[in-house]
Amino acid sequence: MTSTTPSSAEPRDLIADTEAVVLVGGKGTRLRPLTISAPKPMLPTAGLPFLTHLLSRIRAAGIRRVVLGTSFKAEVFEEHFGDGSDLDLELTYVVETEPLGTGGGIRNVLDELTASTIMVFNGDVLGGTDLTRILDLHHAKSADLTMHLVRVSDPRAFGCVPTDDDGRVLEFLEKTQDPPTDQINAGCYVFRRDLIAQIPEGVPVSVERETFPQLLAEGKRVFGFVDSAYWRDMGTPEDFVRGSADLVRGIAPSPALHGHAGESLVHEGAGIGAGAVLVGGTVVGRGAEIGAGARLDGAVVFDGARIEAGATVERSIIGFGARIGHRALIRDGVIGDGADIGARCELLRGARVWPGVVIPDGGIRYSTDM
Ligand code: GTP
Repeated sequence: MTSTTPSSAEPRDLIADTEAVVLVGGKGTRLRPLTISAPKPMLPTAGLPFLTHLLSRIRAAGIRRVVLGTSFKAEVFEEHFGDGSDLDLELTYVVETEPLGTGGGIRNVLDELTASTIMVFNGDVLGGTDLTRILDLHHAKSADLTMHLVRVSDPRAFGCVPTDDDGRVLEFLEKTQDPPTDQINAGCYVFRRDLIAQIPEGVPVSVERETFPQLLAEGKRVFGFVDSAYWRDMGTPEDFVRGSADLVRGIAPSPALHGHAGESLVHEGAGIGAGAVLVGGTVVGRGAEIGAGARLDGAVVFDGARIEAGATVERSIIGFGARIGHRALIRDGVIGDGADIGARCELLRGARVWPGVVIPDGGIRYSTDM
């Protein structure tokens, strides 16, 4: 769990002089069709918009002022979080009319920033790292930029970041096929505020492809903070399902969940039929209906969805108000909002059904027995 108090007397003042920026303007294409109706950081995760978990973590580290860099479906964030007071935060919003990328998004909020240390977050990362430790390292090294790094088994899909014995970053290699280390960019950075002013204004910029390599080429003091706390980028359906289940089971920490841990999480107004089995970190949204004898294993069922009697849902996301018919099987799938999957259908291995699509009873099968 993140600590609620700074780790020593001195960083308390440093925390007071730290603000956070959360980048939430992406289109979330890898999570379509769920991100047609909601931006990725607002998708329900263990019953709360994903961003609530990240914002609670930022607050738990002692940071109060947070700027959200929005673009895609920008209005949804302010409608939900308002001025941030429910989370004891001071939240402000800066909208990009056209998405400016991760670097452009950071540059675009500069006028809202007053602190000298700025902690920047990708808005889709679930993690358990004590943020005050990253800040402590940043100050101890008098760094210009400090990046949170994690070790993964396959670094090729991420930014690979080799460091020297002192933790100084040697290179930044975005999505390389030949990674020299298993350390990757975890999507959280501490900037000296004046570095942000150097990012070109009003044009699309990628921090990963442009800003970081450039800072290294200029010889800036760039350090990596590596730890082994829980970490997951929630950008794909597989990771979203895993991250949600980890939150429900207490494997992934979130100050917003107040220590909940169990095999399933059922929200108010949901109905669970006789003999239904809910395991593997399954979450059932508000007003959803689970029929008798249905089996849900690692399922993410959004509000108002209906899983009928005898259906099986494994490692899949069922969108708002969708219906899964009697004895249907959904495994590793994403079912869009309001879709209607007929009885005995089988949807497996990465199937994605677009919102409102109706599949008749027995309309898609992988086996011949009915
Ligand atoms: P994919 O389309 O599935 O890659 O998702 P994405 O659009 O969210 O992109 P990605 O996962 O690479 O983005 C990482 C974080 O940066 C997410 O929290 C995004 O919301 C955010 N982000 C990406 N592009 C922009 C942008 O142009 N502006 C802002 N403000 N945020 C962005």
